[in-house]
Order: sequence, then structure tokens, then C-alpha cells
Amino acid sequence: MSDVLLPPLSPARADLIFNFDGKASWGIRDPARFHALLEEAKSLVEPGYYLGDNLFTWGRNNSFLDDERFRLAWWNNVQNDADQAIAWRRYLLVCAACHVRPLAGDFVECGVYLGSGIKTVIDYFGAEDFPQHFWGYDVFDFNPQGHVFADQKEGLYERVCARFADYPRVHLIRGLLPESFAQGMPSKIAYLHIDLNQAEPEIAVLEALFDRVVSGGIIMLDDYEWAMVYRTQKIQEDPWFERRGYRVWPLPTGQGMVIKR
Ligand SMILES: C[S@@+](CC[C@H](N)C(=O)[O-])C[C@H]1O[C@@H](n2cnc3c(N)ncnc32)[C@H](O)[C@@H]1O
Repeated sequence: MSDVLLPPLSPARADLIFNFDGKASWGIRDPARFHALLEEAKSLVEPGYYLGDNLFTWGRNNSFLDDERFRLAWWNNVQNDADQAIAWRRYLLVCAACHVRPLAGDFVECGVYLGSGIKTVIDYFGAEDFPQHFWGYDVFDFNPQGHVFADQKEGLYERVCARFADYPRVHLIRGLLPESFAQGMPSKIAYLHIDLNQAEPEIAVLEALFDRVVSGGIIMLDDYEWAMVYRTQKIQEDPWFERRGYRVWPLPTGQGMVIKR
């Protein structure tokens, strides 16, 4: 028996399978036709479908919806359609957090944006029941890639800090990575979520933090298995990991996962 208890998992009911309709997907050339076809496709498959975030699966448990605690943590932190659509990705972050919970190491997210990824994970456990320090790094007020997300303008840093006013163990560091690590970084890391949407700064982050990830710690690469504009991340990150004897798990959600030995 582990002495680190996880939040209780609500039991899945044999008579209830959830379906999921996500509000966002990307890379669709003719949205009207695509959605019309998929609406029909949904009516032709077994329950347990997930449609959104560039996924269409069916006959799945959709475990993230069975887990009532997660449903609440995710839903309460939805700020936009993308946050809603990526529920499965968020659940994998929460499961990674469950796995690393007994380890001696802090949590880190590189690429925070509105803070929903960090907040969903902490809220799943409950802020008081989450003893680890969580470090979040972002430029916040502009986008270094020139592709500006909604609300990325002056004042965003203060807005995100306000979301974490009651989370004293969350440290939000404003500045360009990897230089902003000079403002503070943990010496031991159990959970590392890298979500910068670009290969070069992601590799710079790996160079700086990989050796600090403890044995059993998890690295989640948000866009590793995405093609389109994200494909350079796989192309550049594969050799980086291979040189160290690691192969990235390419997850159907578009994320990549590495468990540190
Ligand atoms: C997709 S968003 C992060 C979303 C967030 N992880 C979530 O789960 O909601 C990517 C973020 O990376 C940040 N970013 C990209 N390159 C960066 C760099 N070199 N230094 C700091 N932040 C960077 C952008 O400002 C943007 O907010």
C-alpha cells in the first residue's frame, strides 16, 4: 500500500458511457462539410465517442468523464473552446501528476498562457492537498513566436497571477525561456510539462531541466505528436531524446510522454 493517497476515483457505471463533443479542432479545410459528415458518422458508431481536438474515436470509456473530480477541475478552468476540447489531454496531465505524487520533486510548466493547465492539475487534488511547488514560465504579455493568442497583451501576467492568488506554492516567472530560468528554478523536478509550440525553445528547456527530472518523473510534450506547423518539434526532439537513450511515447492526443529512468 502506498502512503500517498490519491483522490478517490468515482466508480465507472456499467450502464453509462459518456460521449464527448469538443468545441475545437484544427487544420480543417471545409469546416461546414467536415462537421456535417462527422455529425452523421457519430450516429453510426457505438457510444463512447470523442470528437474534438483532432480526434474522432468511439467505443471508448472516456475515463476522464467518469472521473467526477476531474470533470469539475477541468470544467471550472475552461476559459475558451480549446480548453474545453482538450479534456483528454488535460486528463493525461492529471494522471501524470497522480503517478509522480510520491516523488520528491517540484512541478514545472513551460508555456503557461492563461494558467489553465496548471490550475486544472492542482484543483484536481485540491489546492490545500497539493504540497508541491508548481513553477510556471511564460512571457505572458506578448507571443515570442509572433502568433498571438487571444489576451496575450499587457496585463496578462497580472491576470494570471490573480487566478493563483490563493495558491501560495505556485510561482509564475515572467520572461523569455530559457533565460528566465535565471529568476529561479527547482533543483528536483517530478513533473515537467513543456508547451511552447516551437522546437528551439523546447530543446533549450530540455537542456536546462532534463537532468533535474528525478527518476520516475514524467515529461509531457504537449505538441510532440502533432504534424502541421508542429512537426519540427518531433523532427528535432527525437534525436535529442535518442542520444540519451529515450524514445518518446507518441500519444493519440497529440502529446508525447517520457518517463525518466
Ligand atoms: C499553447 S500556450 C501554453 C498553454 C498552456 N500550457 C495550457 O495548458 O493552457 C504556449 C505558450 O508558450 C509561450 N512561449 C512560447 N515560447 C516561449 C519562450 N521562448 N519563453 C517563454 N514563453 C514562451 C507563449 O507565450 C504561450 O503562452
